[in-house]
Amino acid sequence: MKTSIGLFLVIFFFAVAIGVSNAFSQTPAGGQGDPGSLVMKACTKCHNTKRICTNLGNKSAEQWDITITRMMGKGVPLEEAQKQTLRDYLADLAPGSAPVCP
Ligand code: HEC
Repeated sequence: MKTSIGLFLVIFFFAVAIGVSNAFSQTPAGGQGDPGSLVMKACTKCHNTKRICTNLGNKSAEQWDITITRMMGKGVPLEEAQKQTLRDYLADLAPGSAPVCP
């Protein structure tokens, strides 16, 4: 009985350690955790960033969420975490900011 509890604890902490290291190593594709380069990589395949640029300062985080979800439906391969990163990034980005605005 004692050993099985010990084993359980070992497995438990092992699982936690893997979970934590995954959380830290998860950087969005397209740049070392830089949402700007993620936009430039994921959002310029079908249209240029002008559409995105003109919307800076106009869309709330919720509206960006809806837009990005729609873009994902068109075929943008983003993970949920990357979507949230982009949404917050675009909602906070000041109008006219590089790299989204040329
Ligand atoms: C698979 C092709 C494709 C990719 C990749 C893509 N878009 Fe789009 N996007 C479109 C098309 C088509 C339209 C115009 C039709 C529409 O608005 O649904 C559009 C329109 C837009 C608009 C203007 C309409 C609005 O709702 O404001 C914005 C902003 C936008 N895209 C943002 C993005 C962002 C941000 C990304 C990256 C996450 C992205 N797009 C990636 C196809 C794409």
